[in-house]
Amino acid sequence: MLEPTALMTPEDYAVPAENDLRHEGAVAPSKHASTSSGTDRTPGRRAVRVMERRYPVRTLQRATATRGDTAAASIRAPRYHRFEHTDRWADSHKARIDARIRQLTAMGYHGDASRNLTRPRTVIDLTNPATQELGKTMPTIAQWFKLIPRAVALDIIYDPEKGRLCNGVVLDEESIRWFKNIDDAIGIRSRAAVLRQLLQQEADNAGCLAVASLACGAAQPVLETMAELLRDVRSADSSVTLVDLDRESLAMAAGLADKHGITDRVTTVTRNILGLNGIDVDPRSHHQTSGRVGYDVVEALGFLEYLPPQNQESYTYNGVVDERRSRAGAIVFLKNAYDLVKPGGLLIFGNMLDETHKQLEFTLNTVQWPHIQPRSIDKMLQIIAAAGVDPTAEVDVYCPTDGVYAVYAIRKPCVQE
Ligand SMILES: C[S@@+](CC[C@H](N)C(=O)[O-])C[C@H]1O[C@@H](n2cnc3c(N)ncnc32)[C@H](O)[C@@H]1O
Repeated sequence: MLEPTALMTPEDYAVPAENDLRHEGAVAPSKHASTSSGTDRTPGRRAVRVMERRYPVRTLQRATATRGDTAAASIRAPRYHRFEHTDRWADSHKARIDARIRQLTAMGYHGDASRNLTRPRTVIDLTNPATQELGKTMPTIAQWFKLIPRAVALDIIYDPEKGRLCNGVVLDEESIRWFKNIDDAIGIRSRAAVLRQLLQQEADNAGCLAVASLACGAAQPVLETMAELLRDVRSADSSVTLVDLDRESLAMAAGLADKHGITDRVTTVTRNILGLNGIDVDPRSHHQTSGRVGYDVVEALGFLEYLPPQNQESYTYNGVVDERRSRAGAIVFLKNAYDLVKPGGLLIFGNMLDETHKQLEFTLNTVQWPHIQPRSIDKMLQIIAAAGVDPTAEVDVYCPTDGVYAVYAIRKPCVQE
């Protein structure tokens, strides 16, 4: 067992500073990229290459403060995977836009360039000079701000060439270029690419998948992948349950499912997933194999960064929920999500990174995306340990080379202790 002090240092997973991530495709090796697994030949996966380094199985031990107790909790040491992702949209405007972002970042929030000051903020302060400057660069940005932080704001990020927001507002050319090139947008697309690859791998191994997508939003990545899987006769009985509180996002997801022609394999559930005593989506109604109950895959991309570790007295997610009663924090939410996974199944989630995200201050102080809680991988491993996952669960950490998000995949053991 390792002592808590022997956990990884930030340098262990940082993308080395000498690598310039600002060129098209945002590719740079990290320290974890020591062996190559080659290029995937499956259609739709060509641009993705995962390089991995396997670490000896060790146990991290942590004193936890979960649900009031301070018992020690252990998880296996994770395996790290460098995830190379060639972004489909990033183009020759990136260097220019990055330089402009550095100027805006230097303006800070009302002059204060600290990373911490904006995290508790729930609204975008339009009097902030850097935010006003951004408005001059991107004339239609104010219309996009009205959608933040809801998932409908991500629609233009997943496909900037739509050229218009989901509320019909037509974007100016420069705004479209920014949605193609800012690191946050590239990171949202690369975390989606990790999810796609993991779902495809699971289907390659298991055939049919029963998937639950928590805080699914408009569910673009998961629906696109499910549509691919369902075209394969081996996975043709797969299904996905989409869970979110935001009816507008779910309606958009339902429309997308219809467009993909997979409506009969998709269930939408309007639910608050931050209940303290579990997530009320009954896996038994969706999947039951030889007495084992649970989803093959539960994914919750784009959600953990909104949650502090501990439970909250009240919970606000602008435009979606504003409740004055206790809600799960990241630790309890992860525990509840893990409970939905069948033995042998996979829990996938992400979190924005703090050390390797090159435009973090821009996100926090200029765009002021509300609530965001960026975290180091080390912090997330502590949360995973505190959530009480099985000590023998395998933990994989995927690090897209843009450095914006890490994606975590926890494999529940087939035989639980
Ligand atoms: C940033 S979006 C992520 C959407 C999607 N997973 C993706 O990666 O594209 C976060 C989603 O969490 C949902 N959400 C926030 N609080 C929630 C809650 N308490 N229960 C259910 N969904 C919630 C929001 O409505 C929103 O759709």
